[in-house]
Amino acid sequence: MPDPVTPQSTPENSPATSPESTAYRAALDVIGAVEPRVADAIRQEVADQREMLKLIASENYASPATLLAMGNWFSDKYAEGTVGRRFYAGCRNVDTVEALAAEHARELFGARHAYVQPHSGIDANLVAFWAVLADRVEAPFLEKTGVRQINDLSEADWAELRQAFGNQRMLGMSLDAGGHLTHGFRPNISGKMFDQRSYGTDPATGLVDYDALRAQARAFKPLIIVAGYSAYPRLINFRIMREIADEVGATLMVDMAHFAGLVAGKVLTGDFDPVPHAQIVTTTTHKSLRGPRGGMVLCDDSLRDQVDRGCPMVLGGPLPHVMAAKAVALAEARQPSFQDYARRIVDNSRALAEGLMRRGATLVTGGTDNHLNLIDVATSYGLTGRQAEQALLDSGIVTNRNAIPADPNGAWYTSGIRVGTPALTTRGLGTSEMDEIAALIDRVLTAAEPGTTSKGTPSKAQHVLDAKVAEEVSQRAHDLLQPFPLYPQIDLG
Ligand SMILES: Cc1ncc(COP(=O)(O)O)c(C=O)c1O
Repeated sequence: MPDPVTPQSTPENSPATSPESTAYRAALDVIGAVEPRVADAIRQEVADQREMLKLIASENYASPATLLAMGNWFSDKYAEGTVGRRFYAGCRNVDTVEALAAEHARELFGARHAYVQPHSGIDANLVAFWAVLADRVEAPFLEKTGVRQINDLSEADWAELRQAFGNQRMLGMSLDAGGHLTHGFRPNISGKMFDQRSYGTDPATGLVDYDALRAQARAFKPLIIVAGYSAYPRLINFRIMREIADEVGATLMVDMAHFAGLVAGKVLTGDFDPVPHAQIVTTTTHKSLRGPRGGMVLCDDSLRDQVDRGCPMVLGGPLPHVMAAKAVALAEARQPSFQDYARRIVDNSRALAEGLMRRGATLVTGGTDNHLNLIDVATSYGLTGRQAEQALLDSGIVTNRNAIPADPNGAWYTSGIRVGTPALTTRGLGTSEMDEIAALIDRVLTAAEPGTTSKGTPSKAQHVLDAKVAEEVSQRAHDLLQPFPLYPQIDLG
């Protein structure tokens, strides 16, 4: 099967006459007849995406089939409940797509159970947290009080149970080590729900220190240990994480939002595949997995019933059009070509790391084993992450700033730039292009300098970059993308 995003051109899918061009032209005509500014914005968005050298580690390009599956009548349907057990009538077609998406997910990841309703990664994590709370706090409480369901509890017992929900502990990776806000940090609801402690990384190596984590878990005795990250460039050994969780009586939850594509593509196997090790695994579907914007929960049999109560527990009605798109994207990810794609993501990430380090850049942990790198731009170039991000953007390279461990510039300005390869790998760029991109990044960040405020005082936000460098690098970034057109089969006319 050809790559679903960037197929080779054939007489059948030449951009002038391909079904995708026909579909999108017609769709834009229909939309434009009602609100032309929306049709124009959609056209502009794909034009911008085609021009961007996108290194945002959490973004990708979904296939036309995945995108088209979202624009239809499923959007109009309410379908609270689960397959075959809905609160609304007339859900047989929703049942079809939800069951298909779940089946593809189970097969792809070797999971006992898949719940494909979460609208996003945050929602998937909330479903998981409440499934664990329901299983480990609510169920024993109901048993102790001898009632079947919470509505039967006395006011006093209900108050006690609510206290118990709010009294639970979670251990998650710290933000500056690469963890995610939804893993128990105060700005997110998870931090307001749980008494949270975080584990960091070894200051010398930048790697997860499992002995320190074990000691912390023994002392803190969390209900849930969360593994998973959005900015850690190495692998996590989930077998060891499960051992630690078992030892302290915790449930192991893995948020694989970032690296689900590498699990699906069998790059992460054995100890590095979370599915056989964790009781519950959450993910987004739109990052390295290359599906529609959404979330998903995989779990073992012990949690399936609780997970299936995600709606209405914490989710609004499922989005059947997005579940249809999940089914399409997961079917794509089950093709052998996806394994090749996943391998190339990591090859490219390593090539980018080597190219950067060869030119003198310092990377957190000294390299990468996955789809992302974290450049310490403070040590390497004397810049904050904010300054570096903007200087790169001026030069046509889209990245995002990110904290590094013990970040001297804090979580807002930061000292890091995160660069990921899933999107450019989808376009077909390979290791030699990654080396050239490393050269471009190094050129911009070497030329950029910290700037000052309008009053002349040093600013962590402002930078100075020679306009000639920005222009030259933008041109080169543009040229580099030309042999790798995005959606080559689509011409919007
Ligand atoms: C590890 C991790 N979990 C959860 C999320 C939240 O995903 P969403 O934006 O779909 O809610 C993200 C998003 O960046 C993430 O990186």
